[in-house]
Amino acid sequence: MQDDLLKVLLTEEEIQQRVAELGQEISRDYKGKDLVAICILKGAMHFMADLTRHIPIPLTIDFMAISSYGVGTKTSGVVRILQDLDASISHRHVLIVEDIVDTGLTLNYLIDNLESRRPASIKIATLLDKPARRAVNVTTDYNGFTIPDEFVVGYGLDYNELYRNLPYIGVLKPEVYK
Ligand code: PRP
Repeated sequence: MQDDLLKVLLTEEEIQQRVAELGQEISRDYKGKDLVAICILKGAMHFMADLTRHIPIPLTIDFMAISSYGVGTKTSGVVRILQDLDASISHRHVLIVEDIVDTGLTLNYLIDNLESRRPASIKIATLLDKPARRAVNVTTDYNGFTIPDEFVVGYGLDYNELYRNLPYIGVLKPEVYK
């Protein structure tokens, strides 16, 4: 897999260090609040697992699987729910856990969808933010790293479902996806 990468963008150590910092920040902000952390599958799986282990306050976890209709490297903007939450989020404090905000279309849809379920609040934690490609205005509350407009894989992020198992984040060689 390493041969398919141009370079390592974020090492395992850098990711773990930043995720721990975000966990501490989130723990301070949600102390005494009824928190549900929602992992957006599949990309956020590693971030969710590591982040929640750095949040030593009571919380529940839930999962949503969503997918854009696009294939390959482009997001189409049309989002569909493949798997919905198990439990109600009504009157609860929701933390959406995402791996990356790219165009912002997925989050835009998600926020609208979850707001209609009347939570007490909604905030967003994303490991990566790629502002260069933003198509809609979305604000994240906890942001691990702001990254340039490069095709990144690893630590949950895929290309055609591969590379999610890398423990670090790398930039894919263009010839792999062109
Ligand atoms: C990725 C990522 C975000 C979304 C971000 O999901 O996990 O949910 O795209 O892109 P956007 O800001 O342009 O909407 P993807 O649909 O690739 O599914 P996956 O998490 O299962 O890989």
